[in-house]
Parts: sequence; structure tokens; C-alpha cells
Amino acid sequence: MDAVKEPLCDSFGRKITYLRVSVTDRCNHRCTYCAPLGENHKTRAEILSFDEIARVVGRMAERGITKVRLTGGEPLVRKNVVELVGMLSGIKGIEDLSMTTNASLLSRFARALKENGLKRLNISLDTLKEDVFRSVSGGGELRPVLEGIEAAIREGLVPIKLNCVLLRGINEDELADIIDYASERDMTVRFIELMPMSDGLDWKNHFVSIEDILKREDIRKRVDVYAPPEKDRMAAYSLPLKSGKGKAGFISPMSNRFCHACNRMRLTSDGKLRSCLPADMDVDLRPALRPAGDDSELISLITKAVAIKPEMGVYTFTGEGRERSMIHIGG
Ligand code: 5AD
Ligand code: SF4
Repeated sequence: MDAVKEPLCDSFGRKITYLRVSVTDRCNHRCTYCAPLGENHKTRAEILSFDEIARVVGRMAERGITKVRLTGGEPLVRKNVVELVGMLSGIKGIEDLSMTTNASLLSRFARALKENGLKRLNISLDTLKEDVFRSVSGGGELRPVLEGIEAAIREGLVPIKLNCVLLRGINEDELADIIDYASERDMTVRFIELMPMSDGLDWKNHFVSIEDILKREDIRKRVDVYAPPEKDRMAAYSLPLKSGKGKAGFISPMSNRFCHACNRMRLTSDGKLRSCLPADMDVDLRPALRPAGDDSELISLITKAVAIKPEMGVYTFTGEGRERSMIHIGG
């Protein structure tokens, strides 16, 4: 008989309900704030198969995971990823299946993603200028991204959230335009403070705080800004737009802490379960997945990864000593 399945809970009493799954460490863009300078991809043999991913998600869903987000690298460069979407959307308990994508390949896949049970998308969009896009993304093109966004809207992969990383001297002057673009399409744009996750961009020179953004006149003209008292300021919140359509979100992992409310774990493409984004503390699940064996070993590794979740994550500011950059963990 099955033992009673305890919900996943860490040693600080936080319930784990959200799993982010990185399906590949490859990406067709090389954003300066994300991608490492050298190429260092996992081999195909190291990457989890769809069956292995589904097995991990299945076991975690039995223990309270209800929300899964597919990330990368760029999830749409993983061959047949829509098949994985179909497998995961069929797992009992998974109520919210979403994906974070750079949208460059989205017009090709939007319909199949919807048909296979994907609910909604987060899309990276840091600029609306073609030349800036090229330089931020390391040679990517803006036009297919914008076409991908339109395709996602047409297919009803909504609500769409745009992720816009704040970059001093690079996209600061476009934030109002990006808000207007989002508002016209009834999307949420989330401004994200730059995290020191890559050696490709000097963090100190490019960091802009959410606090500074909220003081700006062009932002206050568009966003219904109320100033929450310092102590109530949260690391992520969204505010209505004065246009009446869409929202603006503000994510400040560097200025505010949301660790006390953290409900998430991350599965890397090579099968490591990570309990905290900035902490290099992973539990390798592969020994329990290969050869496909007994679930009890897998469950005990999952439980162990949850148990070592730190109370608070700490970002190192130099990027040195960082074992994995964002492209490997998937944000
Ligand atoms: N700082 C902030 N956000 C980042 N992302 C990737 N790298 C960083 C970073 N250094 C986020 C972006 C992007 C998503 C894939 O990951 O929001 O849209
Ligand atoms: Fe690729 Fe997204 Fe990283 Fe840019 S931020 S390199 S699009 S994974």
C-alpha cells in the first residue's frame, strides 16, 4: 500500500508548490546578462530525457507541486519540446503549466503549445529597438520575437508577461515605450533588477533599482504608483496602468528579499534539483533516474534537496566562483 504522501515542506516551514524545469542549456540568443562567455553545453547524454523529467514532475506533483514552468536556455530549441508539454500537462495535480521563452521561435510553436496544454507564457523583451536588441541578445533579431508575441496572443497563451531586465545606459530610455506596447496588448510588463549572474556584463555599471524607476516622471505618468512603506515593500508586485489595460510589475531581487515566501525548486537540464537560485547547492537526481529504478530513491533525493533549502539566498557580486550561470539554471 502507498505510504501517506507528505507535501514537500522545507526546514523553515515553507511549502514547495512550484517547480521550474530547465529543459536545455542551449539558447539561440546570447544575452549579455545571462549567457556565459564561453560555450560549454551539456552533452545529450547528460540532459534528462522527457520520460525522466516527467518522472520527477510526477513524483513531485504527488507531494504538492501544482505549478510547473519550463525554462532553458531557450526551451523552444529543445527538439520536440511540445511533446514534453503534452506529457506534463497530463500529470495529475499540475494545474498551471507555463513557459519562459525568448519568443524568437514562438510563431512556429504557439499553436502546438496551446494544443498540448500549455497555459501561458513569460516572454523576455528588453527593448523595442532593433539595434539594441541585437546587441543585448548577442546577435538576435527583434522582428521574429514581436511576431511570436502576436502569435501567442492569437492562440490565447495568456495572460502574457513580458520580462524586461533593467539595464542602465542600454534600455532605460525605453521603459515608457515598453509599458505602452504592453498596455496596447493587455499584457503585464515586469521590470527586473539586474542580477550579477554573468561575466558578460559589468553589473555595477548597469544596475538600476526599481526604486529609481518608480520615481521617474514618465513611469508615474503611466503607472498607478503608490509608495508602499519601506517595510511593506515586496520583492515582486504589480501595479495597474493608468491606461486601464495591462499592468506593470516590479521585481527587485537585489533590493528586497522574498526568500521568506519562496515556494520554488529548480530542476536543471542535467538533472540536478536546486533549492535556491543563487546558492550552488544541488542534489543530483540522476543516480535515481538511471537506470530507471525504484521511486523510493528518487523521492528520498527530492526530499533531501528540499530539506537543504537555505533560509535566504545570497548573491555574490563578482560572478566569481559561480558554478552555473543563468542559462544553466533557467532563471
Ligand atoms: N538578471 C535578471 N534577470 C535575468 N534573467 C536572466 N539573466 C538575468 C539577470 N542577470 C531573466 C530575464 C530573462 C529570463 C530568461 O531570465 O528575465 O527574461
Ligand atoms: Fe537566451 Fe533568455 Fe538567456 Fe537571453 S536571457 S541568452 S534569450 S536564455
